[in-house]
Amino acid sequence: MDGLEVVRIEKSYGATAVLKGLNLECRPGEIHGLLGQNGSGKSTLTKILSGITRADSGTIRLGAKEIDLKTPQLAQKHRILTVFQELTVLPNLTVAENLFLGLEPTNKLRMVSVRDLHKRAAEALKQLGIENLNPRQMAGQLSVAERQIVEVAKALMRNPYVLILDEATASLGPKESQWVFEQARRLAERGNIVLFTSHRLEEVERHADRISVLRDGVRVLEVARGEVDTEELVTVMLGYKVEQLYPRRPHVRSTRPVLAVDHLSVGHKVHDVSFTVGEGEILGIAAMPGQGQRELFYSLYGEMPSRGDITINGQRVRLRSPRDALKAGVCLVPEDRKTEGLLLPLGIGHNLSLVILDRLARAGIVRRRREREEIQPQCQQLRLPIDRLREPVGSLSGGNQQKVVLGKVLLNQPQCLLLFDCTRGVDVGTKAEIYRLMANLSAQKVGMLFYSSDLQELVNLCDRVAVLYEGRLIKVFDDHELNEEEILKVAVGLNQAQEPITLSHKARNLP
Ligand SMILES: Nc1ncnc2c1ncn2[C@@H]1O[C@H](COP(=O)(O)OP(=O)(O)O)[C@@H](O)[C@H]1O
Ligand SMILES: [Mg+2]
Repeated sequence: MDGLEVVRIEKSYGATAVLKGLNLECRPGEIHGLLGQNGSGKSTLTKILSGITRADSGTIRLGAKEIDLKTPQLAQKHRILTVFQELTVLPNLTVAENLFLGLEPTNKLRMVSVRDLHKRAAEALKQLGIENLNPRQMAGQLSVAERQIVEVAKALMRNPYVLILDEATASLGPKESQWVFEQARRLAERGNIVLFTSHRLEEVERHADRISVLRDGVRVLEVARGEVDTEELVTVMLGYKVEQLYPRRPHVRSTRPVLAVDHLSVGHKVHDVSFTVGEGEILGIAAMPGQGQRELFYSLYGEMPSRGDITINGQRVRLRSPRDALKAGVCLVPEDRKTEGLLLPLGIGHNLSLVILDRLARAGIVRRRREREEIQPQCQQLRLPIDRLREPVGSLSGGNQQKVVLGKVLLNQPQCLLLFDCTRGVDVGTKAEIYRLMANLSAQKVGMLFYSSDLQELVNLCDRVAVLYEGRLIKVFDDHELNEEEILKVAVGLNQAQEPITLSHKARNLP
């Protein structure tokens, strides 16, 4: 059995050195966790190992043999297979077609037999314990989580010696992630290697036999499981101590409402929901995927029609568009910064000033000094790289991109902020900054409605947490009652008798 060894790999993009002499060793039979903040170079390493990107220098060995990974085909020849966070499943093909892409079973005429394909796909899915996926379904109709599962299945069916999972569990709930790690463990037990990255520290600590921490393009720590505690891992990742990930803030209770929602219904997804968000209050929404949270948030942002009453700052409002919402003082921070928030080819400065053009322009001309005066403090508050204001936002790390989205939102000076899973897929350093910002906004009396798929976050940041289940708010937890386990029980639909209301199908999709 051969280990995988990465020796003094260097990689630059233009003038930016991303990997600076990186070393890494994975032993046969182990699950190896790769930790590091956004931008530390994990995906770059992953792409080099998959033959997608070429290193500038350095060597990669399997056992004693140096291997050439110039192309994805060469990587696959060495049975190095990678699952990326960005989905590569083809939406216009069925699940079966995706699974067998490039490996289709053929009859004598070398034509794909569809029946055979479906049969073999069903068998393969069954062997992997995911027979609830329908081989005939178009991949485009699957949820993001299901597509991700198909990606993993596809890699597993190609008999990997080295399986690389780059944020492969980011869009998965606990049950689905557990499935991924069960498969990883099975591979490792047979002597193969699994190398994975995850933003969920807890996941890495639980499943990795050994952990390598990258910072700024080099490995700064390599340890076996349990050798160091969480706090130390975070400190090593950041290169400095986060005194406390979650800021201390005074508990906010029964203040004047900035947002009052009365008997709100949205399509068939949200039913008769009522609640208020007070000045400075952070009201958490806990829900499994698809319980109506998206519809709730987007209707409050004027992007979806709703029935019922919405009152903002004491004024009944009708929100027919985001423009109405913005005018009323409501802003939304979406989860998907790429598609919803930003103009990727433009710089940070540009993205920010677009929001306040009306304040900046006089007679159609943007006043540059005014622009600097408004934007620089915002960048400082968010610790955005001021020296890189002109660089396209698309080349920034994910964490910095999300901060630009926040910057845009804050320039609107909202009184009520809708935060929709805005920390998902964001590195721990940026998370800490977002939390700090939320605490500051709370002190400035901004009311926040905060949906997060991370229960730990809800429990540690919110003044109250309401649980949304099948489109209804079924319970509100007060500050002193906040407890992850109790919230989870309600969110998965456990009734008084502690019996699950809906069985496995829903339970598989935990947040
Ligand atoms: N194609 C590219 N062109 C320019 N810069 C890039 C490119 N890909 C990645 N980078 C930069 O390399 C750094 C490391 O990125 P990445 O490997 O994706 O980090 P991680 O996966 O640890 O978050 C980031 O600063 C990113 O902006
Ligand atoms: Mg990455």
